[in-house]
Amino acid sequence: MTRLDPHSYADLDQGITQSLTLMLRVDFEAKRMFGKVRLHLRQPSSGVFDLDTRALEIAGCRTGGGAEIPFELGQADPILGTRLRLQLPAGTQDIEITCATTDASTALDWLAPEQTAGGALPYLYSQCQPHHARSIFPCQDTPRVRFTYTAEVTVPDGFTVVMAAAPAGATPGPEPGTQTFHFTMPQPIPSYLTALAVGSIASKDISDRVRIYAEPEVLDRAAWEFAGVGDMVGVAEGIFGPYEWERYDMLMMPFSFPYGGMENPRLTFLTPTLLAGDRSLVNVVAHELAHSWTGNLVTNATMEDFWINEGFTVWAERRILEALEGPDAAALHAAIGRIALDEAFERFGTGSPYTQLKTPLDGVDPDEVYSEVPYEKGFLFVTLLERTVGRQQWDAVIKRYIDEFRFTSITTEELLEFLDRELPGVLDTIQARQWVYKPGLPANAPVFVSQRLENVRALAGAWEHGKRPSLEDVAGWKAEEWQLYLKWLPREIAHEDCALLDRRFGLMSSGNYEILVNWLILAIRSGYEPALERTRGVLTTVGRMKYLRPLYQALLARPEFQAFAREVFDGMRDRYHTLSRVTIEGLFDKAGV
Ligand code: BES
Ligand code: ZN
Repeated sequence: MTRLDPHSYADLDQGITQSLTLMLRVDFEAKRMFGKVRLHLRQPSSGVFDLDTRALEIAGCRTGGGAEIPFELGQADPILGTRLRLQLPAGTQDIEITCATTDASTALDWLAPEQTAGGALPYLYSQCQPHHARSIFPCQDTPRVRFTYTAEVTVPDGFTVVMAAAPAGATPGPEPGTQTFHFTMPQPIPSYLTALAVGSIASKDISDRVRIYAEPEVLDRAAWEFAGVGDMVGVAEGIFGPYEWERYDMLMMPFSFPYGGMENPRLTFLTPTLLAGDRSLVNVVAHELAHSWTGNLVTNATMEDFWINEGFTVWAERRILEALEGPDAAALHAAIGRIALDEAFERFGTGSPYTQLKTPLDGVDPDEVYSEVPYEKGFLFVTLLERTVGRQQWDAVIKRYIDEFRFTSITTEELLEFLDRELPGVLDTIQARQWVYKPGLPANAPVFVSQRLENVRALAGAWEHGKRPSLEDVAGWKAEEWQLYLKWLPREIAHEDCALLDRRFGLMSSGNYEILVNWLILAIRSGYEPALERTRGVLTTVGRMKYLRPLYQALLARPEFQAFAREVFDGMRDRYHTLSRVTIEGLFDKAGV
């Protein structure tokens, strides 16, 4: 028994998936997908073979030769889901499982037409990271296992299917009025990187290897916002080496998407809150693109090592930004990240294991402890390495890291062993083991110096002494400077000051959601009622947890706004993604509202 991942029943001694075929039919009326998955193992196997499932119906199971495979579903566990135990006849290399999703399939979000930009057709999308792929099809749902796949997805006429894979055309479906879309994924991926979306979807080319997919109603805006991404891929290649996934396409999601972006290979998923109209939020694309190296090529072996995935990627994101916009831009982002990290430390409390880089997660749902720690503490750790050995040497190490581990999934210990080998003595010099295995932030954390940063800090600091910003003070500010300024102001300000800031700078109508949400949080904390209607507007259109969580939190912290929060949430609970709904319910429980 070799169960190395606390979030999977897979036992790699029983056999390892090499490739699979997905055959799915999407039923929008029933909100279910029906179909089959065929697993091809690296070697013939026999006897017990365990797979992960969650909220799936299993109708039957056969070998490639058609022999029935006895199977048994275990007890449902709230974190792991349900173990599917097969008894493989001797020499089984191909397994075909007939299955169907249910309304508890956590990877899937089924949207009513009103929740889309077009308003005419329903929409379906998946979000598999970290452990939700098992709610679409039975699989070895651990990032240790990588597989290639082909897929065919049947939908009613009028719908388009996209997947994080290479499109291979569409054919008439088995029933009249249906169409089957075909895909192949030639690069081996962990299960959490499987992804699909179905709806009214069109596309536009941005460069010879970059295309944007979106609902037709938002396609032009999206194409404009991300027009620079073709060049960005080239810039990233210059730093990290060749792009291994052939195409870098993007899908503009409907508003309920719970994340800012998801690095699904060949097809990054992006929240529509990035459509600021001034390209000021492209750092999220830089981040998801960077995962093409740090993540999709080299990922974490388990969620306990998640920081390897996100920490290196935030570092890589800021290197791309630095190359495109200069060191000031990267320093501003680092400062925003540092505030978020301190907030996460506050949320967990000093000494919490969730403030370590390597986090013990046995019996813990990774969705519940998702935080900025792996991102921003990880970023600081990688930056410390970079600064300690110098950029030139570090960039060479990063390239060898990617080269040595490409298309694998590694543990923290494997990474440390590699770094020790590449850079003898450096881990001890920087006290790497304290960074990785101890809570909190070590004293040698890198700091960022930039004149722009200092100007904003000074202006925010002068608030207490009566200084109110003039139009001149903020002339030429980037969105990041606004974000920092709003974060550095006192937690609460006077209502006249709220009115003044809004009047002078039009914050309530900012098209940049980072500015808008930070402003609304400040206004809500200040008990400023005129902010409620705009807040309602955000809470009833946006599903991104990064915004929902702090907004509801701020409302719940003010007794006079609790009833408002309750009313908005009750009206929205069935619209939010399961993950967002559960997270916000937790906030209400905690506040006793
Ligand atoms: N892979 C993550 C999103 C994720 C993490 C989904 C864990 C499910 C579980 C993605 O790359 C990400 O980090 N997105 C950030 C963007 C960012 C610029 C840090 C987000 O969604 O805000
Ligand atoms: Zn990420």
